[in-house]
Amino acid sequence: MKNIVLIGFMGAGKSAVGKLLSEKNKIPFIDTDKLIEKKESKSINDMFKEQGEPYFRKIEKEVIEEISIKEDTIISVGGGAVLDDDNVSNLKKNGLIVYLKAPFDILYDRIKESTSRPLLAVQKPEEEMQALLEARQMAYESVADFTVDVSKGTPEEIAQEIVEHI
Ligand code: S3P
Repeated sequence: MKNIVLIGFMGAGKSAVGKLLSEKNKIPFIDTDKLIEKKESKSINDMFKEQGEPYFRKIEKEVIEEISIKEDTIISVGGGAVLDDDNVSNLKKNGLIVYLKAPFDILYDRIKESTSRPLLAVQKPEEEMQALLEARQMAYESVADFTVDVSKGTPEEIAQEIVEHI
């Protein structure tokens, strides 16, 4: 089976749905953000603070290249990963890309209290998030093999919908 690669904005539920898909199908789950943190022995927050976003993106790219040779794996990538063409072609090599889509209000509600999203650690997080989502929406749509509306339904129902679609 091809890998199933979950993409989408912060708060879309990629990690939760990925874990469920992995349990349901009894196949491994890789969360690239977790892998990056493990590789660097530090949190993404600290990486952004100490080395900056370009450094994070470099490690993200390395990790995605490394895992792109996998098969039969559920992969979830950070919200900015598919803005990079190399990442997209690596993820597409063995993978089917699934976009977990939700409107701004739902995403904002889910992550507004989060302290682990360095991109939103700004003076006006709501405005920042709106701008980021607008700038990325097209990219998510265009790289996805299919899109799942995650504005309704539990992570179980969303995982089930993905299984049925494949
Ligand atoms: C990012 C999303 C985060 C993480 C990093 C950058 C982004 O992952 O990769 O903070 O650019 O949207 P999640 O989408 O899992 O929150």
